[in-house]
Amino acid sequence: MHIRPTLEHDIQWLPDVERSAAQAFTAWPALAWLAQGDVMNRETHQAFVDAGGSWVAEAPDGRILGFACARFEDQALHLHEVSVRREAQGQGVGRRLLQRVADAARQAGARELTLTTFADVPWNAPFYARLGFEVVDEGLLSARLRGILASELAHGLTGRCAMRLCVGA
Ligand SMILES: CC(C)(COP(=O)(O)OP(=O)(O)OC[C@H]1O[C@@H](n2cnc3c(N)ncnc32)[C@H](O)[C@@H]1OP(=O)(O)O)[C@@H](O)C(=O)NCCC(=O)NCCS
Repeated sequence: MHIRPTLEHDIQWLPDVERSAAQAFTAWPALAWLAQGDVMNRETHQAFVDAGGSWVAEAPDGRILGFACARFEDQALHLHEVSVRREAQGQGVGRRLLQRVADAARQAGARELTLTTFADVPWNAPFYARLGFEVVDEGLLSARLRGILASELAHGLTGRCAMRLCVGA
């Protein structure tokens, strides 16, 4: 398996990867509805690719197993999405994608890699914690992260938290 920057011709496969990844939520009744949720559209993927903020995990046979996309916000690289096809989950693909995003953050001189996620879902906050991320305490949230969490809550997403991985010197 190979992690590399996303190319334009990969974009056609990414909505299906995200839909497949979201099937994980069928195992979590309170969030099972996410398995049928909207996925990122082509234009959004294109914008991440154009900005150099998208990576894919490619299997030896050329199949795209997962992707991650992130963008710079303030002094941080912010992870917008990471998805691994349902049948490829639990095999280290997500870990490798996140390592690549963290490397990109370091190379670009970012201070931290940030994200928001579900605090209690085993393949969300606990997954990131295993990779070294820490939950940002409510009182220490930046205006940016506070704004993202407020927007998610307004869209019906409860039980979310912000996390950060320090990548700066
Ligand atoms: C989150 C996601 C990208 C993780 O990718 P993955 O390839 O399955 O994760 P990995 O195999 O690299 O696992 C990395 C670590 O997390 C743990 N982990 C992953 N999935 C887990 C699960 N369902 N339950 C418990 N632990 C889990 C692994 O045990 C592993 O730890 P270890 O290396 O110390 O043993 C993937 O599960 C996914 O696409 N989920 C649906 C979409 C989603 O929730 N995206 C995140 C949005 S915030």
